[in-house]
Amino acid sequence: MQTEAQKHSILIVEDEPGPRDALAIILRPFFTLYTADNAHAAMRILKKERIDLVTLDLKLPDRQGMDLLQDVKLEREDVEVIIITGYGSLKSAMDGIRYGAAVYLLKPFNVAELIALIQQTLEKKERLDHLRHFLKSPGDKWGTETDAGTVWQLLQKDYRSLGQTKWGPDQRFATYAELAPLLSDLMQARDRDLFYHASRVSDYSDLLGKRLNLSEAERSTLAFGAFLHDIGKVPAEDHRLLPKTGKLDTREQEVSKHHPEIGARMIHPLNLPAEVSQIISYHHEWYDGSGYPDGLQGQGIPLFARIVCLTQEFDHLMTDHHTSPPLSLEEAVAEVRRQAGTRFDPALAELFTRVVIETKASLPSLGTPSRRTTTPDH
Ligand SMILES: [Fe+2]
Repeated sequence: MQTEAQKHSILIVEDEPGPRDALAIILRPFFTLYTADNAHAAMRILKKERIDLVTLDLKLPDRQGMDLLQDVKLEREDVEVIIITGYGSLKSAMDGIRYGAAVYLLKPFNVAELIALIQQTLEKKERLDHLRHFLKSPGDKWGTETDAGTVWQLLQKDYRSLGQTKWGPDQRFATYAELAPLLSDLMQARDRDLFYHASRVSDYSDLLGKRLNLSEAERSTLAFGAFLHDIGKVPAEDHRLLPKTGKLDTREQEVSKHHPEIGARMIHPLNLPAEVSQIISYHHEWYDGSGYPDGLQGQGIPLFARIVCLTQEFDHLMTDHHTSPPLSLEEAVAEVRRQAGTRFDPALAELFTRVVIETKASLPSLGTPSRRTTTPDH
C-alpha cells in the first residue's frame, strides 16, 4: 500500500458533477485527487500543486478543452493528459493527441480499463521524465561516435532499471524489440509531434514497400529506418521550429542542415543495418541533385532514402508543418506529382500517389499515433 506522500496526484477536469464524482470515487483509493469544474480552476491547481496526470473532459464552461490542454502542456510539459470523451467528440480527442495528450478514452469505459490506462501512462511518464532530464542535461551527448556509444550504453542500462516498456501488438519492429522502445520514447521525450510524424512516415513507407514487393526483412528495415529518419533532431533543443514556412534563421538553418549527419552519427554504435543509416543520412537528397547534405542524384540516392524523402514530405504536406492550413489528400498528391523528377524519384512518386489514393480510407490518422491510440505504449 502506498503512503499518501508516494501516491501520484491526479487532477480531474470535468464540469458535470455526476461524472466528476464518479471518477473521484473510482480513483480516490489509488491517487491523491484534485478536481476542477472549469479551465481557470484547473490552471490554478496545476500551478500550485505537484500534479502528475490530468483527466480532461473537452467540454468546459469557460474555455475550449483543447486550449486548456495546450496551456497545461505549456505550463508543465511533463504532466500527462488523458482525454475522456464521448463518441461525439472523437475527432477533437484525436486532435488532442497532436497537442500532447497521452491518450484518449471513449465513454463509456469500465473502471479496470481506466485504472490500467492511468497506470500505464504514469509508468510511461516515469520513463519520459528520465529521458527529458537526460536531454536537458548540458553537453553534446552524441558529439562523436565514441560519445554516442557511451550514451547508448548508459541509456539502455537506465532504461532496463526503469522497467521495460510493453511493446504493443505491432510486430513490425519486432526485429528491433530491444531498441525500439527506447528510441521511440526518446523521440517522445523530445516532442510528441516528432514521434507521431516518425510513426506516420514509417507507415507510409511500409505501404510503398509492400507495393514494391520488398521482402519481410527489407520491409522491416525500411519501416524502422523511416521511423528513425529524423532522430538527428532529438539532440537539438529548438528542433520543433523546423521545418516551417518562411525563412529559417542561421541557427535553424544549421540544425536543419545537420540533422541527417547528426542522426547517422548517433545511431552508428547501434549496429543497425546500413539501409537505416542511409535513410537517416540521405532523406533530404533530391532526385535532381539539389538536396543535402551531399547533393546525391537520381539512382545514386539509395532506394530507401528516396522512399523516405517522399513519404516524409507527404506527411509534412498533410500536417501543418509546411503549409497552413495543411493540404487535403488530393492537394498533397498533386504537390507530390508536381515535384516528381525534381525532388522525388518520378517512378516512386507515381506509385506512391496511386497507393495513397487507393488506400485512402486506411491511411494513418493525421496527427494521431498511427498505431492504436487507446493505450499509451504504441
Ligand atoms: Fe528530416
